[in-house]
Amino acid sequence: MEFIHVLNLLSDGEFHSGEEMGRTLGVTRTVIWHAMRAIQELGMEVYAINGRGYRIINPLNLLSVEKIVGFLPADINYDIELFSQLDSTNHYLLTQLGAHDLTGKVCIAEQQRAGRGRRGRRWHSPFASNLYCSLVWRFDTAISALSGISLAIALAIVKTLEDCHLSDIAVKWPNDVYCHGKKIAGVLLEVKGDMTGPCDIVIGIGLNVNQPLQVVKIDQPWTCMQSSAANKEFDRNQVLAILLTHVDKTLKFFQQSGFEVLRSLWQQYDMLHEQEVEITSAQGSFCGQVKGVNAQGHLLFQCGEKLLHLSGGEVSVKKKQMEWLEEKV
Ligand code: BTN
Repeated sequence: MEFIHVLNLLSDGEFHSGEEMGRTLGVTRTVIWHAMRAIQELGMEVYAINGRGYRIINPLNLLSVEKIVGFLPADINYDIELFSQLDSTNHYLLTQLGAHDLTGKVCIAEQQRAGRGRRGRRWHSPFASNLYCSLVWRFDTAISALSGISLAIALAIVKTLEDCHLSDIAVKWPNDVYCHGKKIAGVLLEVKGDMTGPCDIVIGIGLNVNQPLQVVKIDQPWTCMQSSAANKEFDRNQVLAILLTHVDKTLKFFQQSGFEVLRSLWQQYDMLHEQEVEITSAQGSFCGQVKGVNAQGHLLFQCGEKLLHLSGGEVSVKKKQMEWLEEKV
């Protein structure tokens, strides 16, 4: 029995005695006691009152595969696996890849112990606050033909946020999503396969939904859906279903037409367009101006006389007039 089953019983914010929960879950009170310790170790505040039992202070909206499927349109039949804790949803799916086509396999977690960000960074993944989601998709094309895909996924996140009535949303090449000038979501693509195809892509999305304020050790300004929408609380199950619907549509569209047709949409939301930026890559740092993206999703960067085409990978972009340091993609 996992602590999450106990947490599910407590998620209504009411008192539940150890005996009652043990009876419901078919376990002893000692097992419940250990689960309560695990819950407290997550940083969750718990009231324990003799004779009444346990109660968590803030009612929880936990993820549920059943609820997510209930929000999904009937034509999306993803195989969704939910974990209460995992090192990384991307890593988990990468270990599952093999000869079989796992397109449509989704992994979500309430918490990641080693959430991965781009460029070897860590992705903060506190328990039951945000969305940490990865999806497998198989493409028959060569890896090189997929360069615009991360930008396309960022646009799917933009559409999700708009459906949730958030405003002032922007994208930052290659795949960050911002709301009111602060980062709200990131995408990490990891590829396994032959250079010439087919290849399996694990698309990892981290979306801040109700990120607790105490998560402050993030080295750039960040926001979450809740604080961007006047403290409105979002049902993560519903947000995830909207996100998967847009991602599904985007991937099918990309498979048919590539990134070229999404280019004008990208331009509409591009926060770097015509901006003076500093690019850092393995070759060094360069200053210049962003001239949009090309049909493959490469960044067009005017550096003196030269117009360079940069691909995502290990390049970082810093907007020059931004006051804060280390704003990297
Ligand atoms: C970034 O650096 O902006 C990309 C962050 C991607 C985070 C997501 S959370 C779900 C998936 N699993 C991971 O370990 N990382 C991605």
